[in-house]
Amino acid sequence: MPVHEITHPLVKHKLGILRQQSLSTRSFRQVTAELAALLTYEATSDLTLEDYQVQTWAGPAPAQRIKGKKVTVVPILRAGIGMLDGVLELIPSARVSVVGVYRNEETLQPVAYFEKLAHGLDERLALVVDPMLATGGSMLATIEMLKKAGCKQIRALVLVAAPEGVRRVEQEHPDVTIYTASIDQGLNEDGYIMPGLGDAGDKIFGTK
Ligand code: URA
Repeated sequence: MPVHEITHPLVKHKLGILRQQSLSTRSFRQVTAELAALLTYEATSDLTLEDYQVQTWAGPAPAQRIKGKKVTVVPILRAGIGMLDGVLELIPSARVSVVGVYRNEETLQPVAYFEKLAHGLDERLALVVDPMLATGGSMLATIEMLKKAGCKQIRALVLVAAPEGVRRVEQEHPDVTIYTASIDQGLNEDGYIMPGLGDAGDKIFGTK
């Protein structure tokens, strides 16, 4: 199934807190990171393990570790930065691939203006993070950028998704799985997710 709406009680509880209009910048940032960590936990539940031996106080014992080159986190500027620490909390050694995308107001097409990707993308799982999956434009541009760079395994972690954005990712990239705390009602005429979170970037950075 290409979209997972996470129903874990902690996720639902924290999402409710995040939706509160009166939440401070500090708390919004904190809960965003916590939700990012919980989505990361779900999105990595099927990583391949390999066996090895660990020296314990009682002698050698069997253990398991994650196999292969592992993970790159891909925050989409600007709001994706707010989820980065939460992902790194669980995967501290992950490489970070930063991507910047803006929307050309004449063509309405997403334009990539910044791209600094980790090496060895063909062997890494990419966890793309952006709090809001609205029209899907930035997400699609990022996925295309990653695929062009050789990435074969991509998952999208978004706090809130609009059905419109989910549909576009599903249609154009059925190999990409979306993990979200909520699929909301839809977009309003200004492109905001309803009820959504408002402008997630402004709330994370305190720029409103
Ligand atoms: N970006 C936001 O920050 N909020 C939305 O609702 C949609 C896009």
